[in-house]
Amino acid sequence: MLEGKKILLGISGSIAAYKTAALTRLFVKAGAQVKIVMTPAARDFVTPVTLATLSKNPVQSQFIKGDKGEWTNHVELGLWADVFLIAPATANTLAKMAHGLCDNLLLASYLSARCPVIVAPAMDLDMYAHPATQTNLKTIAAFGNLIIEPNSGELASGLDGKGRMAEPEEIFQFIKNQVNQAAELIGKQILVTAGPTYEHLDPVRFIGNHSSGKMGFAIAEELANKGAKVILIAGPSQMQLKNKNITRIDVQSAEEMLNATLKHFKKSEVAVLSAAVADYTPEKVSAQKIKKSGDTLQLKLKKTTDILKELGRLKTKKQLLIGFALETENELANAKKKITEKNLDFIVLNSLKNKGAGFGVDTNKIQIIHKDGKMHNFELKSKSAVAVDIVEQLIQIIHA
Ligand code: CTP
Repeated sequence: MLEGKKILLGISGSIAAYKTAALTRLFVKAGAQVKIVMTPAARDFVTPVTLATLSKNPVQSQFIKGDKGEWTNHVELGLWADVFLIAPATANTLAKMAHGLCDNLLLASYLSARCPVIVAPAMDLDMYAHPATQTNLKTIAAFGNLIIEPNSGELASGLDGKGRMAEPEEIFQFIKNQVNQAAELIGKQILVTAGPTYEHLDPVRFIGNHSSGKMGFAIAEELANKGAKVILIAGPSQMQLKNKNITRIDVQSAEEMLNATLKHFKKSEVAVLSAAVADYTPEKVSAQKIKKSGDTLQLKLKKTTDILKELGRLKTKKQLLIGFALETENELANAKKKITEKNLDFIVLNSLKNKGAGFGVDTNKIQIIHKDGKMHNFELKSKSAVAVDIVEQLIQIIHA
């Protein structure tokens, strides 16, 4: 459903710009609100008057509007949009997006946008195939933007090859699917924990584990892509986030993770606890660096609070709780026991016996076990694909 959705359409200077008139018409007919921002070069290919008439909104191209001299707020445009579509996206605009250049209103809006950004490239076949363009597209995709691949066919130059911008109907369908998917978790606050915890022994040493945070970060991204407002409580991790709908709270120790999680659980409808939390922490943290002395050193550790169990105790009927289990033996029996003991809706089981699963690697192989005993086995996949499977199971419960 595009009804009421706010679509910002960015047009850059390619002959394919003429297709944006038909595209604008499709969006408006579907009930979307459309605002248009054009690069100066785009104005040579399609007139702002046509687009303003079709979109029912003034078309913007400059930071300062000519007539009245008022300031055009690019930040506002970026914040206004539910989706920012850049079509056609020329090689020049793609290059600038990849490198953060900002010499026109379209690019400034792009840098300010908090919504999903989708680009539909259009250019001649050799320009499209050039390693520079391909690298720029990869960079843009790595920022979390989506790309609608161009079609192959006759190009404006008379040459034949890949570079024709996707047809208005194809772009329209892509945006519609994107918005529908994104809508599934709109308005839901979801709490995620990720990464390891560090338990300090003295000012220079800690007890930690090999968790990289990759799985939990991928889950946070996927939830946010589906429209959820995500609070990510992260132990020490090198991972970076792409989706701006995620609030990241960095913590170090199990105790800090517990406090941050408790603070945000009440307002969350779902909590997904994927962090590898230390089960024990030093009884005493030495204020000074522990000096080397005898042949052995004994550390006295005390139990940390099991955050998942604590949330299971506090959980209301309206909240969902998802835990992880990392097992090396009796996997299924142990995982099922944790569902009951920690009052979970489902548990994601990783077995360290599976090659390519577990800490540090980019892939994972999981089983999901629901509280009613239903089980799903998944193949070895990238952690982002595993995150899609986990979120899919969650959406099924929410919409059941
Ligand atoms: N967990 C937690 N707080 C802890 C320990 C674990 O929230 N102090 C959560 C993890 O985030 C994970 C789940 O509990 O979702 C399972 O962790 P795991 O270490 O596999 O199991 P434990 O319950 O700690 O039990 P055991 O170590 O005996 O297997």
